[in-house]
Amino acid sequence: MNQDLSRVTTVSAAMQQAALAYRAAGRKIGVVPTMGALHDGHLALIRRARELADVVVTTIFVNPLQFGKSEDLSRYPRNLDKDVQLATAAGSDLIFAPPENDVYPAGFSTHVEVEGVTEPLEGRSRPGHFRGVTTIVAKLLQIVQPHVAVFGQKDAQQVVVVKKMVRDLCFPVEIVIVPTVREPDGLALSSRNVYLSPSQRSEAPVLYQALQLGERLLRGGERSCDAVRRKMRDLITSRSSGEIDYVSIANGLNLQEATEADPGHPFLLSLAVRFGSTRLIDNIPVML
Ligand code: PAJ
Repeated sequence: MNQDLSRVTTVSAAMQQAALAYRAAGRKIGVVPTMGALHDGHLALIRRARELADVVVTTIFVNPLQFGKSEDLSRYPRNLDKDVQLATAAGSDLIFAPPENDVYPAGFSTHVEVEGVTEPLEGRSRPGHFRGVTTIVAKLLQIVQPHVAVFGQKDAQQVVVVKKMVRDLCFPVEIVIVPTVREPDGLALSSRNVYLSPSQRSEAPVLYQALQLGERLLRGGERSCDAVRRKMRDLITSRSSGEIDYVSIANGLNLQEATEADPGHPFLLSLAVRFGSTRLIDNIPVML
């Protein structure tokens, strides 16, 4: 057996027992929830958790509940051995990688649903997605009992939704956010980038370019969010074959579309663009 696999726990009850023992011994637990196929974005989260906690647990579970019927669940990349090596090298002490029937045994029927902030943006394009995310994240927090949980800014709405769930349901955990890790050309690292053809890959940096353009316009004093969205869309369509799902300038707290970019408020510039069957998302938070 690969020696690293001794660090892997696959049973929720065993993971929870170990976590409760760490807590009883006064050790601070940090968790990094992932779906595996780890890249430098995930590893930045693990390194951050390493700085914040005594025991770092990386969870690896491709959560079927958060994938729509037509989405890429079956082709989602899986490579546990490699993930264990990468996570361990980045500072993870334990990997929790349960099979589906441990997480969702026959008869499982409890779900966690956050209202409001789950409705626009990704929620509109991916019905049921956030119900799947909050259900698994709630369950992972119960199993791993962390003091701190680390998430990436890459999934900006997920951050808002998870923070809301934690606040509303009084989970005793601190949510820590790590900035988006990017390729040198600006493309945000994503497990889905491997699906891009070479020509799609060469066009994909347009997502970040459009976000940067939006930020520049707002910082330059443009107050009309409609005008900024239009220019961002024009850039994407003129420079790529990508099909725009949405381009958004939203209130950074409630994710409602903004009309006027008033200084002193947090905004979230975000977008989703399809290249063939591959849907990419990206965002930048902007405080004017
Ligand atoms: P996954 O897509 O594997 O991402 C795991 C974590 O890594 C998330 O917090 C995500 O925001 C972060 N991440 C991904 N790419 C990143 C990048 N380029 N820079 C910084 N962070 C990045 O998000 C999920 O899994 C799932 O929804 C999960 C929370 C695990 C629940 O199933």
